[in-house]
Amino acid sequence: MEKTFLMIKPDGVQRNLVGEIVTRFEKKGFQLSAAKLMQISNELAEEHYGEHKDKPFFGELVDFITSGPVFAMVWEGENVIATARQMMGKTNPQEAAPGTIRGDFGLTVGKNVIHGSDSSESAEREINLFFNQNDLLSFTKDD
Ligand code: CMP
Repeated sequence: MEKTFLMIKPDGVQRNLVGEIVTRFEKKGFQLSAAKLMQISNELAEEHYGEHKDKPFFGELVDFITSGPVFAMVWEGENVIATARQMMGKTNPQEAAPGTIRGDFGLTVGKNVIHGSDSSESAEREINLFFNQNDLLSFTKDD
């Protein structure tokens, strides 16, 4: 079954949005496979956001994501990568539709509450950066 990596950023954790966001994915029908509240090191942040290292906002991005605890998660389900991104809304909360997580709770493109993998390659890479294979649990019913 398809898996994706989702991470509630420091703004979402500080604003007590973890429960609200987890509930949205549970109610949609996806299954939580792994989750942890953690402080990201500079090294992990730079590796996770490696594709943005030449962007002018890279320093700001690393500073923000390491500024407080994040809630890292793996979710499982049919088409979970694309569907989770639809549920998150556009990267810039000002462009994100109402009803999406960033549309409802985001403030700025930096403080946009949540990160989600954008492809199956990113999902695999990001899941392996944040979790060990034996952290991933499955409780899907066959019937
Ligand atoms: P995310 O999905 O975590 O992936 C990369 C992040 O870079 C993105 O969400 C935004 O939060 C952030 N980002 C994109 N553009 C900018 C910008 N102009 N200034 C600061 N952060 C940005």
